Amino acid sequence: MAETTLRVSKIKYGTVIDHITGGHALDVVKILGITGRTNGIVLIAMHVASKQLGIKDIVKVEGRELKPEEVDKIALLAPHASINIVHDYKVVDKKQVKLPEIIQGIVKCGNPACISNSNEPVKPKFYIKSQEPLIIGCHYCGYIMEKQDILKQF
Ligand code: CTP
Ligand code: ZN
Repeated sequence: MAETTLRVSKIKYGTVIDHITGGHALDVVKILGITGRTNGIVLIAMHVASKQLGIKDIVKVEGRELKPEEVDKIALLAPHASINIVHDYKVVDKKQVKLPEIIQGIVKCGNPACISNSNEPVKPKFYIKSQEPLIIGCHYCGYIMEKQDILKQF
């Protein structure tokens, strides 16, 4: 199908997070700490047609790159996302996010009795049980967390 229109304009410098799982653009915006009071242009497209995904979301952020922790969080919600770095209107770098086998540090265990929630110096650690739908299990107590539980922490 030929594209007849460009839905959101190109950016000059910054980052395009493309191929976001449909419906998760605003979660990505939240992960990036963007609020209405943040400076800089942010373009958001939701539920646009995608050959690979059927529908996808896109978030374009002018004037900044992403921190590794932000990319890891995006990978949890949108395992097919690509991170495109744009310089002077050209894509100079394109990376697929990668869901790590072990998730360390970015999600807290939902079980209050878990050792990772005690005063012990134990960092939370999870294994991926299922990618889509996302299900992770705590290394220490076995507690299972789903995407919705993880989203509440972001
Ligand atoms: N993009 C942008 N501003 C630019 C350049 C690119 O907003 N100055 C956006 C494009 O609209 C697209 C994404 O960045 O959403 C990746 O651009 P590009 O690699 O040119 O597109 P595709 O080849 O279609 O990417 P892919 O193969 O990853 O789908
Ligand atoms: Zn636990």
